[in-house]
Amino acid sequence: MQKIRFLGEDLIGKIAAGEVVENPASVVKELIENAIDAHASEIRIEVEEGGKKKITVSDNGSGMSAEDARIAWQRHTTSKISSADDLFAIKTLGFRGEALASIAAVSKLTILTRDSESETGIELHIENGKIVSERVCGMNAGTTIVVSQLFYNTPARLKHLKSERVELLRIVDVVVRYAIAMPQIRFTLSTEHGNVFTKNPDSDERAGLIPVIGLEGAKSLIKMGWKDGRVEISGYISKPEIQKSTSDYIYLYVNRRWFYSKNIVNAIRDACGESLMKGKYPIAIIFISVPFEDVDVNVHPAKTEVRFVDERSIINSIAGAVRAAFARHREHEAILREVHEKGAQQTLAVESTGTAAQPAVVKEAITAYAASHPAGIVEEKTKVKIRVIGQALNSYIIGEISQTSEAFSGKPFQEASPPEKPSGKNSLGVREGAESHLVIVDQHAACERIAYEALRNFEKVVKQELIVPLVVELTPKEAKTLEEYRELLASLGFEIEDFGLRTFTVRSVPSVASMIATKELFIEMLDSLGEGKAQDAEEKIEHVLKTIACKSAIKSGEPLSVEKMYEILNALYKCKLPFNCPHGRPTVLKYQKKDLDRMFLR
Ligand SMILES: Nc1ncnc2c1ncn2[C@@H]1O[C@H](COP(=O)(O)OP(=O)(O)OP(=O)(O)O)[C@@H](O)[C@H]1O
Ligand SMILES: [Mg+2]
Repeated sequence: MQKIRFLGEDLIGKIAAGEVVENPASVVKELIENAIDAHASEIRIEVEEGGKKKITVSDNGSGMSAEDARIAWQRHTTSKISSADDLFAIKTLGFRGEALASIAAVSKLTILTRDSESETGIELHIENGKIVSERVCGMNAGTTIVVSQLFYNTPARLKHLKSERVELLRIVDVVVRYAIAMPQIRFTLSTEHGNVFTKNPDSDERAGLIPVIGLEGAKSLIKMGWKDGRVEISGYISKPEIQKSTSDYIYLYVNRRWFYSKNIVNAIRDACGESLMKGKYPIAIIFISVPFEDVDVNVHPAKTEVRFVDERSIINSIAGAVRAAFARHREHEAILREVHEKGAQQTLAVESTGTAAQPAVVKEAITAYAASHPAGIVEEKTKVKIRVIGQALNSYIIGEISQTSEAFSGKPFQEASPPEKPSGKNSLGVREGAESHLVIVDQHAACERIAYEALRNFEKVVKQELIVPLVVELTPKEAKTLEEYRELLASLGFEIEDFGLRTFTVRSVPSVASMIATKELFIEMLDSLGEGKAQDAEEKIEHVLKTIACKSAIKSGEPLSVEKMYEILNALYKCKLPFNCPHGRPTVLKYQKKDLDRMFLR
């Protein structure tokens, strides 16, 4: 065993900093919190190279005296609490007295500050745990903190930073999070290239949300309000038809402090009830107000989780608020519908509802696939005959398949086509030695498999130019995901151009996934990509292929024509691994006659 020794101050500082400062966005978070605690009504954030080179946060808050400024950046110094009792009723965002110290330990820090009592301000430069220079300066009351060369003395951390754009988007996310919480404060975020976003205090509450959740998202919000004993809930929830693939759009605040809680996210989903599909989430902005002593905010190093004294009552109140908001919304919709129906009764009689055109995707997937895969790809020496019996429950294709492993002449796979007319023939006329099955095919899983294998053939993927390019407005998280997967998507046929920081134009898509050429599906695809935990390049490719395959596949519940079913089964049986979808779930259930006999106890 090594001998135990005391760590040096410098090392202690860097270890502590590791918990608080993970990237430029965490610096921005701490500095914004300090400005809010100083009662600023305006906070300006400027970053260079995604915050890696320089972060400047200026506020017009209370400022500090020269004396206070000289100690504010040291460890365990705070003006916000003074006794253990205070710790259990925290009213400020900061309280630990370690944020500035942590930032100072891993960067070059400048503090410029002046309180309203002082004639002049003070400018301090801090490096390697000490003040290296100090001077008097003229300035308005308030504070400006400049953080330069983040992680210059911790190369391991520096290495883990992402591209400038990704780091910037993380910062945007943080600023927006606080801008939602503090509508009375003016926030400005800019980079060396110009203004990114300004949130004015007097703007309409919902309009202010557009930079975070996009115009469509903001338009979809229903207002909530609820009070139950000590708990008050306000905020917004999206209309039932909005279905997001991630919980990223659920913003939780307690006493205007942002936090995350899996339990509450689950409770919100439960309260949405059946309107929400499996694995989907709504958009929600939830402000919880409780007495300060009812919540412990000192449970997480970066203060992103909290503990409620009575979590059950919080969850019940949120569920109540969500249900009440939906009930009001339904009532409202019903009234609108009634008005609309009365007006539309006559036109309805002549308007043909028609069947919606089948998405072209599977046809294209199959054609592209067939074109790029010579028939020999099917297990050699296997001959497949297919007969479609029909579709069941709008989700499953029932058919009869016969596979012969005997030697044969000619093509191993014979394209089956629907009979011209029902012929009355009800079997495949299978020869002795052939293995014949009744099959139940999951139409969605099968299409996923077909699209996935077509896409795997990268260089042969055909791209489809869009006549009208899609213009998509993304949230910071989606834009971050897009950035991460951009090259891969490009190699698959997605031509994407920048059109502003978080607006992009999509000019082409892979033709096997032409169904993704709608804003909603494109964004859904990004959301699913963002959820993945892919580590290396190979996992990423897999993740992208599976996601595109899933989003472009025919959904379960969709009626199919006989031709379509033949197309799907033909293409499926040409796949290398026809019997599982890319996620590993089965595509086909097979029953031989003897299996059925056994089930019927014959
Ligand atoms: N922008 C600011 N305006 C006025 N005072 C500030 C500002 N930033 C920091 N301070 C002062 O410096 C002190 C130390 O700040 P620091 O962020 O390190 O700790 P904290 O906010 O008290 O706690 P935490 O570590 O939880 O953030 C604060 O308590 C506050 O008094
Ligand atoms: Mg602080």
